[in-house]
Amino acid sequence: MNLLVTGGCGFIGSNFVRYWLEHHPEDQVLVYDKLTYAGRRENLADLWEDPQLSLVVGDIGDQALVRQTCLTQATDLIVNFAAETHVDQSILGPLVFTDTNIRGTHVLLEVARELGIRLHHISTDEVYGHIRDDHQSVETDELAPRSPYAASKAAADQLVQAYAITYGIPVTITRGANNVGPYQYPEKAVPLFSTNAILGEPLPVYGDGQQMRDYAHVYDHCTGIEAVLLRGEIGQVYNVGTGREMTNLEMVDIVLQTLGKEQSLIRHVLDRPGHDRRYSMNVDKLRALGWEPRYEPRQAVAEAVRWYQDNQDWWAPIRSGEFRDYYEKQYAERLAGLQG
Ligand code: NAD
Ligand code: TYD
Repeated sequence: MNLLVTGGCGFIGSNFVRYWLEHHPEDQVLVYDKLTYAGRRENLADLWEDPQLSLVVGDIGDQALVRQTCLTQATDLIVNFAAETHVDQSILGPLVFTDTNIRGTHVLLEVARELGIRLHHISTDEVYGHIRDDHQSVETDELAPRSPYAASKAAADQLVQAYAITYGIPVTITRGANNVGPYQYPEKAVPLFSTNAILGEPLPVYGDGQQMRDYAHVYDHCTGIEAVLLRGEIGQVYNVGTGREMTNLEMVDIVLQTLGKEQSLIRHVLDRPGHDRRYSMNVDKLRALGWEPRYEPRQAVAEAVRWYQDNQDWWAPIRSGEFRDYYEKQYAERLAGLQG
C-alpha cells in the first residue's frame, strides 16, 4: 500500500511513520509536510535512508502540489496529521488554524474525491468541548468546540463527514486524547513542564490546575489508528484514548517525581481564556476492533518525561532557538504576575 502521511514530521505523525514502517515494511510511506516550527526533519533522522520512506515539502492547502504528489506516488491512502495544533497559539494567532486545519483538510478531500483515494483524518477530543463530570464523550455526541483550535478541528471533522455523505468517498476519523511521548514540541504541557523542570525553571500551571485530561501514550494512538485503518468501518468515527483522566496537578506531580525535583517549582499563573475543564472519552468502539492501550496514563506521562530526560540533544536546540520568543510572549507576564 502507498500511504501519503501529511504532517509526518510532527509529533504524532513522526511516531506513526516510525511505527508503520516497522510493522508494515512492504508499504511505501511518503511524508507530505510544510515543516512549520513544529515539523522537524530530524524527528525521522534515522529513517530517511530507508527506500520505503520519502518526503515532499509542501502545504496541504496547495491543491496542485497535493494532486501531483498523489498522482506520482499512486497514493492509496492519505492519513492527515497536518495541522496547527496548540490551543495557546490559536489564541495568540488564530487565522492560520483556519487556513491549515479547515481549508487544508478541504483541499485533501477534493483531491481524494477526484482521484478516488481513501482519507483517514486525525481529529481530537477537543471537538466535544468541555465535558461535565458524569459524562464520557461517545462518537455520536454533538460537537461543541470552545477554542479557535478546537473549532477549526471540528469544522474539518464535519467537512470530512459531509464529503462521505455527499460524494460517498471512503473516509474514517479518529479523535485522539492528549498525547504524550517522544518528539512532542515543548509548547505542550508535558514536554514544557519536563524540560522546565530539568532546567530548574518554574512550571506555569494555568489557574488552579484542577483541569482534567486523558494523557495517552502516542504509541497507543498509533496502534489505534492502525486498528481503524485495517479493521475500521468506512464512514465511521473512533475515539482513541485511555478512557481515564487525571488533573493537571497530578500530571505535574508525576513529572516532578520522575525527575526527582521539588514541588516548589510549581507556579500557578493566569489561566488560559476559555480553558476547558475536562475532556473524557469512551473508547469502547475502538476496543471492539480488538485494540487495547499498552499504557495507563501515569505510566504514559512518566515514560514521556524520561524520554525528555534522555534526549536533551533533541530539545535543547529548540528551547534555545525560536521557541524563546513564543515563551516570552506566552509566559513572561504570567510568571511575573498572578501567583496562586
Ligand atoms: P504537531 O504540531 O507536532 O505537528 C503538526 C505537523 O503538521 C508538523 O509536522 C507541521 O509541519 C505540519 N503542518 C502544519 N501545517 C501544515 C500545512 N499547512 N501543510 C502541511 N503540513 C503542515 O502536531 P501533533 O501534536 O503531532 O498533532 C498531529 C495531529 O493530531 C493534528 O491533526 C492534531 O490536531 C491531532 N491531535 C493531536 C493531539 C495531541 O495531543 N498532540 C491529540 C489529538 C489529536
Ligand atoms: P496542552 O498540552 O496545551 O493541551 P490541551 O490544552 O490541548 O489539552 O495542555 C494540557 C493541559 O495543561 C491543559 O489543561 C492546559 C494546561 N497547561 C498549563 O497548565 N500550563 C501550560 O503552560 C500549558 C502549555 C498547559
